[in-house]
Parts: sequence; C-alpha cells; structure tokens
Amino acid sequence: MRLAVFSAKPYDKAFISAAHSARDPSSSPVTITYHDFSLDALTASLVTDADAVCVFVNDTLTADVLEILSSNGVRAVLLRCAGFNNVDLPAAERLGLAVANVPSYSPEAVAEYAVALVQTLNRKTHRAYNRVREGNFALQGLLGRTLAGKTVGVVGTGRIGVSFARIMKGFGCTIYAYDPYPSPALEGIGEYLPLEELLPKSDFVSLHCPLMDQTHHIINAKTLALMRPGAMLVNTSRGGLVDTGAVIAALKEKKLAGLALDVYEGEGKLFYDDHSGDFIEDDELARLMTFPNVLISGHQAFFTEEALTEIAECTLRNLEDVTLGRPCPNSLVKDRKILVRRDSLPVRNV
Ligand code: NAI
Repeated sequence: MRLAVFSAKPYDKAFISAAHSARDPSSSPVTITYHDFSLDALTASLVTDADAVCVFVNDTLTADVLEILSSNGVRAVLLRCAGFNNVDLPAAERLGLAVANVPSYSPEAVAEYAVALVQTLNRKTHRAYNRVREGNFALQGLLGRTLAGKTVGVVGTGRIGVSFARIMKGFGCTIYAYDPYPSPALEGIGEYLPLEELLPKSDFVSLHCPLMDQTHHIINAKTLALMRPGAMLVNTSRGGLVDTGAVIAALKEKKLAGLALDVYEGEGKLFYDDHSGDFIEDDELARLMTFPNVLISGHQAFFTEEALTEIAECTLRNLEDVTLGRPCPNSLVKDRKILVRRDSLPVRNV
C-alpha cells in the first residue's frame, strides 16, 4: 500500500512515522511519502504513485480533484481530522473512493483550549504578557470578570461541546446549550435552550458545532444583535460559522467585548505556514488583528501530543481497514475495499 501524506509538517511526519514503526509487522505493508504542500486542483496531478492520500483540514478535495486522483489510481482518502467539509463526499461515492476520518482525537484537547481562550480574553493575559516584558506593570486596561456565577452558552453539544461545558461548570458557571440533537451527556451540566434564547442569556458563547449549510454564518449580524452587550465569543470549531464582517461591526460598536478565534473563514491561505515576511492580503483578518480584545490563533486547539498520537494511529487503522476490506468504523462513504495490485506492494526486508 502506497500512502501519500499531504500538508505534512515535521510534527505530522514524526507522529505518523512513530505510529507506522509501532505497527504489527504482520499487518499489510505500507510505504509512506510525505509532501509538505497541500492537495488541491494544482497539485492533484502530481499524485501518480499512490493508492491512498492522507489529508488535513485545509487540503481541497473537490470533485475535480477527486476525479484526477481517481484516474491516477488513488483508491482512498484518509482525513487526519474530524471535519470533512473540504471533501466532496457524493463525488467520492460516485468515483468509488474510500473516505475515512478521525472522528475524535482528544475532544478534551479542543475543549481545554477553548477554556484557555475564554480566560485569556477575559483576564487579558495576552496583554499582560507583553506589558510586563516591556517593564510595564500597570493594571489599567487589564480588568477582567470572575467566571464563577457567569453564564456560558455552548452551541453544539457533541464530544467537544460537552467537555467544554463540563469544565466551565467546574468554574461555577451556569451552562446553557443549543443543539438540534440534544445529548443526554449534558444532563446535570446545563440546560438546553433555543439559540435565540441562549444568546441574550450568555456572558460567554463558545461554538462547537460542525460547519454545514445550516450552520454557515450561524453568528451573523442578526444573531450578534441578540447577544448580551459585553459578551465574549469563542470559535474553535470552523471559521465559516462566523460572519467576519458582522463581528468586526459588533466589535467596533462595543457590543461584543471580546472575540477569540482559533479558526477563520479565510484560513486556508494562511494557517499552518510562516507568513511573517509577507503582508496580510486579507483586509478583514488584518482589521481583526488591530483590536486589543481579539485573540487569534492558527487552528491549534487540537495540537497536543495525545491528539497527534491518536490521529496517526487512527489514520493507519483506517488505511488497514479499507485495504483489507474490513468494515471501517470511520468510513464516511459506503464501505470500500482498496484493491491493491500485488506488484504495487513494496518488497519487505526480512
Ligand atoms: P461532534 O460531532 O461530536 O458534535 C457536533 C455537535 O454539533 C453534535 O452534537 C451536533 O448535533 C451539533 N450540531 C449539528 N448541527 C447543529 C446546529 N445547527 N447548531 C448547533 N449544533 C449543531 O463533533 P466534535 O468532535 O464535538 O467537534 C465539533 C467541531 O469542532 C467539529 O465539527 C470541528 O469543526 C471542530 N474541531 C476543531 C478542532 C480545532 O483544532 N480547532 C479540532 C477538532 C474539531
């Protein structure tokens, strides 16, 4: 089995190689090629010697990309992430490609990071850090709010949302939640409300729902108008949940007292790479970065040793499932088996 890994950073190589070396030697052999560039319409045609591709959040797998891959012999797409909004699944089905994701890699990692953003934004530790290094020990401008007794709105109560809610409850907050599919896991932690009732009641709102047609710009001018004056918003889910122009307006009006984004609508062109020598062409992102009460990080909520280990191990398990024709629990299409030509298997040194 020949696996081509795209958008491979040094940490991806380290964790995937470690999981690969730790595999049972009697399982089907895999040769791995790492590409540091992303997979998209321009790079897809370079994939001429792979049975499977392994991709991440900002690789683009539209129908035309999948068609090129399929015609070049690729039989499977392995996502190193949970979200699959970047893959045209109906096109993959039509082309007979196997597609599998890593549905859960340390939901606590993302939830804990969202909590870190809440407290950084609220207690302004990002500003304190810079001030103190300049020898400025003044407190003016660093006033925060005690979390105990505050209200927190959780939008989306899957694995990450529930974990986040549990931690915030531990701070002594009252938890309100919105999810069209309520979860019994929230019992004893919080109360479900319709979104339009949750927003005016919440001092902090944190987004944990997937990006879909129904959730695109779930935070927009209309829903921002429903939020409590002085509320803070955190998004660690997907950038497309937030209408950037609308949050900029709400920040300028001082309706929104703080915004923390680990994900951004236009992140595909920037995140995961060093652009420190360039100017930022995205005017909305550049505007956001001028606000002292806006905190932006580059899609790193998942980034813990535990999560990277699980991503690497689960990706290789998914590959083995589809290679051997075993039912793959993480399949996003009707289960497929990769039919590998015997001559494509690497020679094994005994
Ligand atoms: P999950 O699938 O366990 O939960 C998602 C929840 O959203 C479900 O309970 C679902 O019913 C709910 N939902 C669906 N439609 C909704 C709507 N219209 N409004 C509100 N809720 C709705 O997913 P999980 O593991 O909790 O992940 C949540 C999101 O976090 C993912 O979709 C992904 O986009 C994001 N994520 C971000 C990471 C990062 O590093 N920043 C890492 C991993 C995931």
